[in-house]
Amino acid sequence: MVDLSTDWLGLRLRSPLVVGASPLTRTVEHAQRLADAGAGAVVLASVFEEQIVDEQLGLHRFIDSYVDTDAEARSFLPDIDVIPIGPAPTLRHLQALRAALDIPVVASLNGITPGGWTDLARQLAEAGADALELNLYEPPTALHATSAEIEARQIETVAAVVEAASGVPVTAKLSPFYAGLTAFATQIAAAGAAGLVLFNRFYQPDIDLDTLDVDRRIVPSTSAELPLRLHALAVLHGHVQLPLTATGGVHTGLDAAKAILCGAATVQLVSALLDDGPAALARISRELTRWLDTHHYRSSHDACGATALHSVADPTAWERLNYARILESWQPARTRR
Ligand SMILES: Cc1cc2nc3c(=O)[nH]c(=O)nc-3n(C[C@H](O)[C@H](O)[C@H](O)COP(=O)(O)O)c2cc1C
Repeated sequence: MVDLSTDWLGLRLRSPLVVGASPLTRTVEHAQRLADAGAGAVVLASVFEEQIVDEQLGLHRFIDSYVDTDAEARSFLPDIDVIPIGPAPTLRHLQALRAALDIPVVASLNGITPGGWTDLARQLAEAGADALELNLYEPPTALHATSAEIEARQIETVAAVVEAASGVPVTAKLSPFYAGLTAFATQIAAAGAAGLVLFNRFYQPDIDLDTLDVDRRIVPSTSAELPLRLHALAVLHGHVQLPLTATGGVHTGLDAAKAILCGAATVQLVSALLDDGPAALARISRELTRWLDTHHYRSSHDACGATALHSVADPTAWERLNYARILESWQPARTRR
């Protein structure tokens, strides 16, 4: 019998298969069905920094507009702190999920500056989140910021969220586009993060050639997106002393097995579950168990990192030189056997 349980962020999960941040847990009923199908934990949809900041600014504007009409208004208008703004619905939903589910519930924040909004981490921790996932989603549109400036700000943000979370573990969700990913990951660990989630899947706008507008649809992933994650997992596993999570392109138990072999302690699923519902989770769990069993692994923990950079017989398979070899060995289709 294969033991799927895993240790992650100081939590004991019964399975490495985790429901990733998305609308999949928008209702308690749906989250319960995913838990019943075998999920090890669930991650809630993100609250965005901008949501918090915009709502605070909006309230200030509202109060200030009254202050302008009456000199005494400041005394009779409510104190800004007592008005339920910002993440109240998320906090209530989090509490409802915590009460209903017997698996860890991870809250998600999406932000990239170390401002006052990071107090949200404290509120989510106090509302009972078992862990927090901080998504450092930042497509490269700042025209003058250098990579060093962007990374320094993101590291400060991680430190601010970790401090606000006061003991509740924070895992950082990264994008694939850091030139020095391993050094950056080390700095994220030094800032107090308890784990890394690889990778953010940038929403990839297309161009509508009829309207000449940007097509804003989210296209679900396919397994073709997994190898980018596998490479990063294999390189970071053992190099950064943090549990790693794969997100992006896991659709089968074999995909999950590859992510675990490359070093993932947990594997998140979103597109597969949006496509096929909780049944996909049960299927992926069965396929993963069967693969581990067939290959004589007694637990997913035993398989974790077995093909990582430091474990494989030929580490150059993961390295730059391998690219040159592959290019050299390429044969036109006609001559391929
Ligand atoms: C509809 C939808 C909503 C999502 N919402 C969030 C979110 O709120 N926060 C977040 O960090 N990621 C969000 N994601 C990204 C997923 O958590 C995940 O990282 C990504 O979809 C890649 O995993 P997959 O290949 O299993 O879909 C969302 C993805 C989808 C498709």
